[in-house]
Amino acid sequence: MTLIRKAVFPVAGLGSRFLPATKAQPKEMLPIVDKPLIQYAVEEAVAAGITELVFITGRNKRAIEDHFDTAYELEAELEAAGKQALLDVVRGVIPKNVTCIYIRQSAPLGLGHAVLCARPVVGNEPFAVLLADDFMDTAPGYKPVLAQMTDLYSYERSSILAVQEVAREHTRQYGIVSAASYRPGLDVVSGIVEKPAPELAPSTLAVAGRYVLSGSIFAYLEHLGTGAGGEIQLTDGIAALMQAERVLAYRYHGQRYDCGSKLGYLQATAAMGLKHPETAQGLRAWLGALLEQGKLP
Ligand code: UTP
Repeated sequence: MTLIRKAVFPVAGLGSRFLPATKAQPKEMLPIVDKPLIQYAVEEAVAAGITELVFITGRNKRAIEDHFDTAYELEAELEAAGKQALLDVVRGVIPKNVTCIYIRQSAPLGLGHAVLCARPVVGNEPFAVLLADDFMDTAPGYKPVLAQMTDLYSYERSSILAVQEVAREHTRQYGIVSAASYRPGLDVVSGIVEKPAPELAPSTLAVAGRYVLSGSIFAYLEHLGTGAGGEIQLTDGIAALMQAERVLAYRYHGQRYDCGSKLGYLQATAAMGLKHPETAQGLRAWLGALLEQGKLP
């Protein structure tokens, strides 16, 4: 049984890189083939045994609340039309034993502030944080990334950050850790800095949007001022936590797509489209023909 029961989904960012699509809806509602990003992240949390989902919402909160709520009218219409398969899809968005809690972040003051908003619900327990715009795909035979981390937590009992190597010219897009090798695939974090310039980055080991955090993080987040980009940064909270408790960096098995960026979103759409039973064959044929005939613009 997992020791992590609660997951926090910060969905209150402005999503400015995706305007105008994010003008009236959070970027986490953008679909990859037929499912919004947030639903993939929720499924990942549920697969890790999590039963309480805490959404930190912002000004465009309705779409996410509606998505995870019962859609009476839609269900009645699908039922009347005898569309059972679609009805199952609509009803199966969230398992019955899972609870959704919504907390409003009054202003987008930063990811650290968004996570701090979950404190009244999470209390002092260890918990997970998932950034749904970091879309994670795993190869057959591997557990989803968060389940890999909660498994690890059950015997390490420390905060764990999902990390991956990135190109040095991209360090400005990430929290970057310095770390000492602990065992294969797992390091002990000795420093962490938000969005460093390539020449200042302590390494090229970047934090991806999955975290298992000790409940003590809240005490540090509470006292933080603004950091990089004028925002209250989760990275700075982790830097303070690390002084008191061991924090691990886990090189997860999986492929991450940055769906907060247009290119990452299109790559994820293509990758998942090539796997989806309704689109795989047609998309593969179309892409193959484009490549073969040199017709890519
Ligand atoms: P991003 O750094 O991707 O910021 O946030 P953003 O504002 O959403 O997107 P851009 O850069 O303007 O395009 C990382 C995660 O933290 C959440 C976002 O929703 C995203 O999941 N976040 C960020 C909040 O919930 N609140 C904030 O104040 C900031």
